[in-house]
Amino acid sequence: MANMQALVLVENEKIEIQTVPVPELKPGEALVKMQAASLNHRDQWSRIGMYPGLKYPSILGSDGCGIVEKVHDDADQSWVGKSVIMNPNVNWGDDPRFQSFNYSILGMPTDGTLAEYLAVPVHRLHEKPAHLTPHQAAALPLAALTAYRAIFTKAETTKDSKVLVTGIGGGVSQFAFQFAKALGCKVFVTSGSDEKLAKMKEVGADGTANYKAEKWEKDLVKQASGHFDVIIDSGGGPGFTALVKSLNRAGTLVVYGGTAGTTVNIKLPYFWFAQANIKGTTMGNDQEFAEMVKFVSEHKIEPMISSTRSLAEVVSAFDEMHEGKQFGKLIIEI
Ligand SMILES: NC(=O)c1ccc[n+]([C@@H]2O[C@H](COP(=O)([O-])OP(=O)(O)OC[C@H]3O[C@@H](n4cnc5c(N)ncnc54)[C@H](OP(=O)(O)O)[C@@H]3O)[C@@H](O)[C@H]2O)c1
Repeated sequence: MANMQALVLVENEKIEIQTVPVPELKPGEALVKMQAASLNHRDQWSRIGMYPGLKYPSILGSDGCGIVEKVHDDADQSWVGKSVIMNPNVNWGDDPRFQSFNYSILGMPTDGTLAEYLAVPVHRLHEKPAHLTPHQAAALPLAALTAYRAIFTKAETTKDSKVLVTGIGGGVSQFAFQFAKALGCKVFVTSGSDEKLAKMKEVGADGTANYKAEKWEKDLVKQASGHFDVIIDSGGGPGFTALVKSLNRAGTLVVYGGTAGTTVNIKLPYFWFAQANIKGTTMGNDQEFAEMVKFVSEHKIEPMISSTRSLAEVVSAFDEMHEGKQFGKLIIEI
């Protein structure tokens, strides 16, 4: 039996590169020789025991790009040799509005992309967008899918929407920014880092604020000449009321994470007087995944990449994510 290198979550807080068997194919599956993977915050949450349904040992990683080396079924032969990314949804289910109760995400509990080989059902494969390198394409799946559903399905953003995306150093938030810009919106951003905000100005942010500053929301609403029609947030925590306060009449605040804290205080009058909507979202359904890939291809969107390193150095990428130093996606070359 052939072996490969993979990043294994061995036990709580312990991730390491191990030599493990190359997965054997089951009916309906393809074996992908991975070229690149990328990290999501979920990988770091899994590392520190803060993700539901953890299984030890597991190979982490939800995102990647590679070449199909072989398939189990003759009917799938046309995939062999293709450059692919994988839809990380496992069992979304029949209702496009929400995931089924046996939904999971590639990379926990099923073995993931931070390995030399991945066995994955053929129906999860999508051809790599032609304008992207394998490294860029590896940045897409989970983060771009989450951003796509947040911006389009949940917030129903149009070109006339005034948009605020918080915590812009993050992978999902940068895709939300890029999608809203591609629509033609004015897009404003926050970060805890002035350096990241300066970089966002260079790539077209229409206004910026540091969420660590006092009354930052007043400053940003002033820069935007009014309140926001759409706010996309994954911070939560103590800053949440400032977001609700910044919503325009009938505005929509979409939340997909709680990096700064999962318990929030909302001054309800800000919410009801604005006729506001607060919507939760998680990942996206399979149709949204296909639409996201099409949108990225049509608009030639290139993911923002913070750094690229080898699989042998992957643990340092987790540490960087934990410290919040990254600006965009952390890519692992395999
Ligand atoms: N529900 C879902 O389907 C889903 C999908 C993907 C991610 N998530 C969640 O969303 C969050 C972001 O994920 P990611 O993979 O994009 O992570 P990431 O790339 O590690 O980004 C995390 C970002 O959070 C921002 N942040 C930190 N403290 C903040 C605060 N007080 N207020 C606002 N933003 C703050 C930081 O932005 P700055 O550096 O700019 O300050 C940081 O870059 C995580 O909590 C993750 O678990 C949920």
